[in-house]
Amino acid sequence: MNLKTNYLGLELKNPLVASASALSKKPSYVKRMEDAGVSAVVMYSLFEEQITHDSLAFNYFMERGTEQFAEALDYFPDLDRYNVGPDQYLERIRRNKEATEIHIIGSLNGVSNSGWIDYAKKIEQAGADALELNTYYIPTNPELTADQLEDNYIELVKTVCNSVKIPVAVKLSPFFTALPNLIVQLEKAGAKGMVLFNRFVQPNLDIENLEVNPTLQLSTSAELLLPLRWIALLFGRVNIDLALTTGIHTGEDLLKAIAAGASVGMVASEFVANGVERAREMLDEMEKWMTVYEYDSIKKLRGSMSQKHVENPAAFERANYMKALQSYDNRLP
Ligand SMILES: Cc1cc2nc3c(=O)[nH]c(=O)nc-3n(C[C@H](O)[C@H](O)[C@H](O)COP(=O)(O)O)c2cc1C
Repeated sequence: MNLKTNYLGLELKNPLVASASALSKKPSYVKRMEDAGVSAVVMYSLFEEQITHDSLAFNYFMERGTEQFAEALDYFPDLDRYNVGPDQYLERIRRNKEATEIHIIGSLNGVSNSGWIDYAKKIEQAGADALELNTYYIPTNPELTADQLEDNYIELVKTVCNSVKIPVAVKLSPFFTALPNLIVQLEKAGAKGMVLFNRFVQPNLDIENLEVNPTLQLSTSAELLLPLRWIALLFGRVNIDLALTTGIHTGEDLLKAIAAGASVGMVASEFVANGVERAREMLDEMEKWMTVYEYDSIKKLRGSMSQKHVENPAAFERANYMKALQSYDNRLP
């Protein structure tokens, strides 16, 4: 069985990649992920706010967010004691590269086209095999047009790609009006891969204390459907590697990601909730399925259920909408 896949010009031994998460803060977890079979680890993000010494968004995502989540706390009881400044980040990349044989992908998280992106070069110099750029931005200004926002993204990606030789992937949210066109523009700007989709940490309202609380809830397999559909639509239409993130919890989910057209499936929540050793079980499950269905390579499986290759391509589009609604007509009491 040939599980090899290519992602961002890197040859990976299989399509299971650890998504950016706090798990990669501890070198021992990275080693355990390697032992459990993952082919690459995306490091937790180095945030623009962290680099520019405004810790607001950094604390929001990395500290308060995880405190809300009991399982995550079990994994990271010492989170507060970690020193996670930019220098330590680079040091962790170096150490992970030395201690493992798998690919280590750095992650930068920010939006402005300014000095903080010098860290792309530093991440490359620290030995990262590739860079993931997470563009997590909530456009609240009614004056800002979709064009302006997208131009900002494109310029940012261009600057980052021009500053490094390692391949760059862009992690995007699903909230764009014309996603395929934006992806083509980002590809022209130099991106080698798209990571779909970023999962926003949604704030909740505490109606007892009249406060807004950040929450970080882990995903479920039900959330796989959104990125799955988009990957299936994009496969063969854009000339860029696709990585699926959000909702992969089982070997079956991973298989679906690849069948839709992803080069790799990325996993965070499942490893946080049930341990990084789940990687081995997921890979075994995938291989068993491939044996039964007579797929001897990931290459043959990839994109086999993309929109271009299924019998009913309309099922990925508007036609599916009415059918799904009608399926409830006879189920009502
Ligand atoms: C505890 C935790 C920490 C995370 N930290 C980061 C991060 O630093 N950078 C990033 O781009 N994504 C981060 N993510 C998002 C994941 O990489 C992933 O895209 C998202 O959780 C969806 O995948 P999943 O369904 O496998 O969890 C984090 C997720 C979790 C659960």
